[in-house]
Amino acid sequence: MRIAVVGDPFFPAEVMADAIRALGAGDELVLLDLGPEVAEGAEGIREYVGSPADVSAVLDAHEVLVVHAAPVTAEVLDASPELRLVCCARGGPVNVDVAAARARGIEIVTAPGKNAHAVAELTLAFLVMLARRLRPAMDVLQHDGRIGESVLEGAAFMGAELRGRTLGLVGYGHVGGLVAELARGCGMHVSAFDPFVDGERMARDGVRHATLATLLAECEFVSLHARATAENENLIGARELAAMRPSSFLVNTARETLVDEGALRAALESGRLAGAALDVLRPPPDGGRHPLLDLPTLIVTPHIGGATFETLRRGAAMVAEGVCRYREGKLVIESQENIA
Ligand SMILES: NC(=O)c1ccc[n+]([C@@H]2O[C@H](COP(=O)([O-])OP(=O)(O)OC[C@H]3O[C@@H](n4cnc5c(N)ncnc54)[C@H](O)[C@@H]3O)[C@@H](O)[C@H]2O)c1
Repeated sequence: MRIAVVGDPFFPAEVMADAIRALGAGDELVLLDLGPEVAEGAEGIREYVGSPADVSAVLDAHEVLVVHAAPVTAEVLDASPELRLVCCARGGPVNVDVAAARARGIEIVTAPGKNAHAVAELTLAFLVMLARRLRPAMDVLQHDGRIGESVLEGAAFMGAELRGRTLGLVGYGHVGGLVAELARGCGMHVSAFDPFVDGERMARDGVRHATLATLLAECEFVSLHARATAENENLIGARELAAMRPSSFLVNTARETLVDEGALRAALESGRLAGAALDVLRPPPDGGRHPLLDLPTLIVTPHIGGATFETLRRGAAMVAEGVCRYREGKLVIESQENIA
């Protein structure tokens, strides 16, 4: 089978190609790695790198296109009349024009949950870091450059343990479910709000089914794991932050659009929230320094949630599995209804 594999700086084509070669079917592969530049103007898709023209140029009567963050627009889908399958090594095909693929009878395979373990572990790390006040404790050494001699020095950084604390999860999909498992392992009491997941599944996991209002009012830690949609932009805004428990913490390892950053800044500056940890931030419109970065109660990382070696291997194995099922005519796309 002729398969085009298009990688990017996060996910090299070679890693995906290795997994496909390991199927042992002797497929004819062409590989391309896109650079980090983002071409403007690809309609109907988001979170991509490279340009549709780059991807189209590599397609030459290919039946399968395997990508991670490459833009798969109508132009790309039309570049190979033989194209029947797009494998996208991401949780959701945000960089694939799903409607255009459907209109052309081209199937889409994704890799739901491939990042879940990595993101859940980062979330747990954030909970510990916030509870134990790691940012100010590390800052004092970095800025003073002096290791104290007193065994009592830690008194200035008294923190809390997770055991017995309450955690509210907003979104209970792949990541949310794993965060619940890890947090319960640490002895936390976990509640979750997800309008699309029934309470029975949560109950089986030992998680309390809650409304958003209850969860915000009661939990000491609130962690966001909802998939970002047009409807839930600024899901956590000034009103929701004001409804959170005084001195509680907010964690966001999902997507930056879920949080109103101006309102979060005000809540941190006023001390209403004790702290926040974010893996995702909106880039400032002027390209300058993000105003949240200077807040001492904020922990921030540059979108590293899914950045583990295991995630790459898992994602590659999942797309290879999609190729295999397609070849065998067994492509049952359970998630087809969910991927739009
Ligand atoms: N930081 C990273 O590097 C990284 C990596 C992977 C995923 N993510 C993000 O983490 C989040 C969770 O990923 P996942 O794999 O668990 O996704 P998923 O699709 O398995 O689960 C998302 C859940 O969000 C729920 N949801 C949708 N709208 C909601 C709302 N308004 N309120 C509450 N819940 C809502 C859905 O019902 C679903 O159960 C997503 O936003 C994803 O983009 C981040």
